[in-house]
Amino acid sequence: MSSILVTGGAGFIGANFVLDWLRRTDESVVNLDKLTYAGNRDNLAQADERRHVFVHGDIADAALVSSLLAQHRPRAIVNFAAESHVDRSIHGPSEFIDTNVVGTFRLLEAVRGWLGQGAAAQQASFRFVHVSTDEVYGSLQPGEPAFTETHPYDPNSPYAASKAASDHLVRAWHHTYGLPVLTTNCSNNYGPLHFPEKLIPLTIVNALSGKPLPVYGDGLQVRDWLYVTDHCSAIRRVLEAGRVGETYNVGGWNEKANIEVVRSICALLDALRPRSDGRSYAEQIAFVQDRPGHDRRYAIDARKIERELGWKPAESFESGLRKTVQWYLDNPEWVRRVQTGAYREWIARHYQQPPAEAAAAAA
Ligand code: NAD
Ligand code: DAU
Repeated sequence: MSSILVTGGAGFIGANFVLDWLRRTDESVVNLDKLTYAGNRDNLAQADERRHVFVHGDIADAALVSSLLAQHRPRAIVNFAAESHVDRSIHGPSEFIDTNVVGTFRLLEAVRGWLGQGAAAQQASFRFVHVSTDEVYGSLQPGEPAFTETHPYDPNSPYAASKAASDHLVRAWHHTYGLPVLTTNCSNNYGPLHFPEKLIPLTIVNALSGKPLPVYGDGLQVRDWLYVTDHCSAIRRVLEAGRVGETYNVGGWNEKANIEVVRSICALLDALRPRSDGRSYAEQIAFVQDRPGHDRRYAIDARKIERELGWKPAESFESGLRKTVQWYLDNPEWVRRVQTGAYREWIARHYQQPPAEAAAAAA
């Protein structure tokens, strides 16, 4: 049976991709994940285990990756594995370089070594899809046109710089060694299984537990939101029909200011799970210190993938956000299990609770 190798498939987007892949195809998935704080086996509870091989390991472990390639002979790799949270990259960038830069380099080298030993036919049909972000393009001014694939790279955070570095490595391994790569640069995802350190799930989870809803700075920073299964369908389409060596921007034409997003979540919760005191969740909104170097605006021009590959998102922001809020309401046990001591310690440290409260939160 043919298979694909997915890296980082226990994280938010990777797990959604694996579950969708198993539902929509009859191929197997070998899922290599280091299970960092962001990786979670619970995310894969619905996976059909007859076609899902989970491997606990690091993309930077060249010997492990080489043995997986030799054993499973996947027809493609989809590389999701990364450190993905901008705020954590500001507190401690080291792991971002280890995984996003060195890890991607080692993965590329392992694939190059394996393809170099294989039959020409295998090399011709093999694909390496590298999943990247719009953050590599830097920040837009209001009114500036959205990022196209030829927009210059201008990364601002340690996270964005590490992803930009990985994109450059992937590009160079194609140009120099002929590796059959494709890169996707997607805007902000949201949906089920999103770890509650990121804006949308953090807002839902904090609202329901009566905590402040932290909005950085003036809340007028703009992000371009895409429901996660629409990102998954874009990656499947790129894998199926994308032109080798090309990059594809992926986005849903949903630019929203952060404060607007937080208010929309509050309005949905007011309707779906009203507060016991009858007041609005919006009363919990708290403007807090801004993120250092905070990019003001991202926006994706998705016309290339729409035109060349016929891809279109299925969800609007309204339908996707409603599904997301409902998913968190329906899955309190998942939420409870991801809120480990380490999670509570991060939240306490990052949002600078007084030391006594932070210790209590982490206990
Ligand atoms: P995530 O943080 O939820 O998950 C990352 C996964 O990678 C985790 O399961 C983690 O255990 C695993 N991982 C980390 N280091 C690893 C290593 N060295 N070896 C193997 N596995 C490792 O991230 P996400 O939000 O699902 O993002 C997935 C990918 O998509 C990332 O590459 C990210 O840059 C990109 N992306 C994310 C977004 C978004 O809005 N979340 C948007 C565009 C692109
Ligand atoms: O643009 C794609 C990127 O989107 C991905 O590459 C990243 O992996 C992903 O984490 C995401 O990055 P952001 O920094 O945009 O996502 P985050 O959810 O952390 O923040 C969204 C916006 O909300 C951003 O402007 C910062 C703001 N924010 C975030 C948090 C956590 C707040 O105002 N308050 C918060 O508490």
